[in-house]
Amino acid sequence: MKNTSAVLVTGGAGYIGSHVVKQLGRAGRRVVVLDNLSTGFRQAVRHGELVVGNTGDMALVEDLLHKHGIQTVLHFAAHIVVPESVSDPLKYYRNNTCSTRNLLECCAAAGVRHFIFSSTAAVYGIPENTFIDEDAPTSPINPYGLSKLMSEWMLRDLAAASDLRYVALRYFNVAGADPEGELGQATPEATHLIKVACEAATGKRSGLAIFGTDYPTPDGTCIRDYIHVDDLARAHLQALDYLEGGGASIVLNCGYGHGYSVREVLDTVQRVSGRSLAIREADRRAGDPPALTADSRRIRHVLGWQPRHDDLAFIVRTALEWERRLAVLDWAGQRHGV
Ligand code: UD1
Repeated sequence: MKNTSAVLVTGGAGYIGSHVVKQLGRAGRRVVVLDNLSTGFRQAVRHGELVVGNTGDMALVEDLLHKHGIQTVLHFAAHIVVPESVSDPLKYYRNNTCSTRNLLECCAAAGVRHFIFSSTAAVYGIPENTFIDEDAPTSPINPYGLSKLMSEWMLRDLAAASDLRYVALRYFNVAGADPEGELGQATPEATHLIKVACEAATGKRSGLAIFGTDYPTPDGTCIRDYIHVDDLARAHLQALDYLEGGGASIVLNCGYGHGYSVREVLDTVQRVSGRSLAIREADRRAGDPPALTADSRRIRHVLGWQPRHDDLAFIVRTALEWERRLAVLDWAGQRHGV
């Protein structure tokens, strides 16, 4: 029977959360979004009720959990800029770790049963193997990764001490946009490679740099496992079905299991956009592992998850289309009243 109880989605106005909210809406789920709109956008919430507030605000969260009889929480709200986490670590521990702690305390008190957590491949740090399974040692090399890993630990310990069960999804490099063109990454000053390259291809920036060309990889540039946001969003809905079906707490990598180099990504952006980019070769960026690809056998096996968009050209095409559309929508400009 279809589950009609509401789910709480923190950070549902952000890039990944908004794609999940849209899919939850399609699946007929009742959704309450909690987002402080610090980096998210009101316009990105295509379904459900938006409550503007902080995840760490315990009085507000307690009220929402009770008022809507919530049994399931999907927790996306977080800061995600790795270099910023290095320069302002306490911001990351406050917003990512402390807020998650407060949220979990509310969940425990309200008897929330299911929790889906946005974790990250950054918990692995610089791994020994470049094809990484979930049992690989965790050793983050920046406060961002550590702030997320601490949240995973709290979840693990709370699940051991209570009836709460959770799925922690460790995202690799999330990219692309809603294939229907309604949603995408809208945060100004994004740092992600595909977003930056698409901004350059659509004239929003003059060019971009390759950070490091002397890595021990075939073309000297870093390799990453880019996963389309629509496939990632679907993994959340399947994780929800899994928990509601009685599944045990689990940590799952989210990636396709193979990667592309920075040069391959930039070649694809140039080919798909038909524009040649002004590309500069620069020094390595601190803390970038040479290659990171997900061993994704566990999520395929446990959730039955199958990618639909394992195609770099498709990822880039949707990202480019979104970039063009965003130039017209101007969500950021509207927010600041410009
Ligand atoms: C990192 C995190 C990831 C996190 C994401 C959020 C790690 C291992 N991964 O991804 O968990 O979700 O940040 O911000 O910490 N690049 C360029 N030029 C650019 C931009 C990027 O050459 O202008 C290169 C980077 O050096 C890297 C690759 O492109 O090799 C991907 O970079 P990026 O998109 O920033 O993601 P990660 O750093 O891999």
